Amino acid sequence: MSKAKLTILKIGGSVITDKNEELAARLKDINRLADEIKNANTKDLIIVHGGGSFGHPLAQRYAITDGFKEETQKIGFAETHHVMTVLNGLFMDALIWRGVPAVSITPSSCILTKKGRIFCFEEKPLKTALKTGFLPVMYGDAVLDADLGFTILSGDQLVSYIAQRLNAKRIVIGVDVDGLYDADPKVEKKAKMFTHLTLEKLKNLRKTLGKSAACDVTGGMFGKISELLPAIEQGIPVKIVNATKPNYIYKVLKGEKVEGTLIEKE
Ligand code: IPE
Repeated sequence: MSKAKLTILKIGGSVITDKNEELAARLKDINRLADEIKNANTKDLIIVHGGGSFGHPLAQRYAITDGFKEETQKIGFAETHHVMTVLNGLFMDALIWRGVPAVSITPSSCILTKKGRIFCFEEKPLKTALKTGFLPVMYGDAVLDADLGFTILSGDQLVSYIAQRLNAKRIVIGVDVDGLYDADPKVEKKAKMFTHLTLEKLKNLRKTLGKSAACDVTGGMFGKISELLPAIEQGIPVKIVNATKPNYIYKVLKGEKVEGTLIEKE
């Protein structure tokens, strides 16, 4: 495996599902993204996708993130994990029937968290799949937790962890807006998008915007980006692009110039 070439691509749940409706997959987008991924033919790629309207509503209904408190949550944990495998199956279908040798690596089977943070990760299957020339696909999942019993592992924490452990060349985050803004672009018409940020600028922005109501409505974007700080600190650049726009993921995978937000250490 040529470590310095590795790209980690996160596809947000809001891209592949309709967050307004429970268990609503955006099949057209899944198929389009599978085409783009196939056509880009990127060597050394790991994909991580989010939960959107599959994982999040169930995780919330059964308070899975907070851990085990009562028996009734157990079926909720099982359901949350199960619907994630269903969403993952749709994504895998789209890739595999196009001839992409994608292999699903189930996070809950190789990862244990402790107080919500990755604590034990059996990396060998992932590394071996990559080395063998497969395209490993992982996802945000309901996982067992050494302290809490169970919790939710976000795709963003997973992306950051893998990128650091495998010394990735870059991280690409595909979302349903054009990049990182100073307010919610879906609400604030005057929201300003950042095209380039250094780690220092990003940290300052988080101080001023991070906890404000304005930021809560950015779909938790700053929270998600916070997970990536240690990877950026390690020198791994992060590009945030709009994955709902045709060919953006293709272009970014090909190394072509695409509109979005680039975050670099310096
Ligand atoms: C969430 O993963 C997974 C579950 C809720 C089970 P993410 O937090 O990465 O998902 P999105 O991208 O926000 O939908």
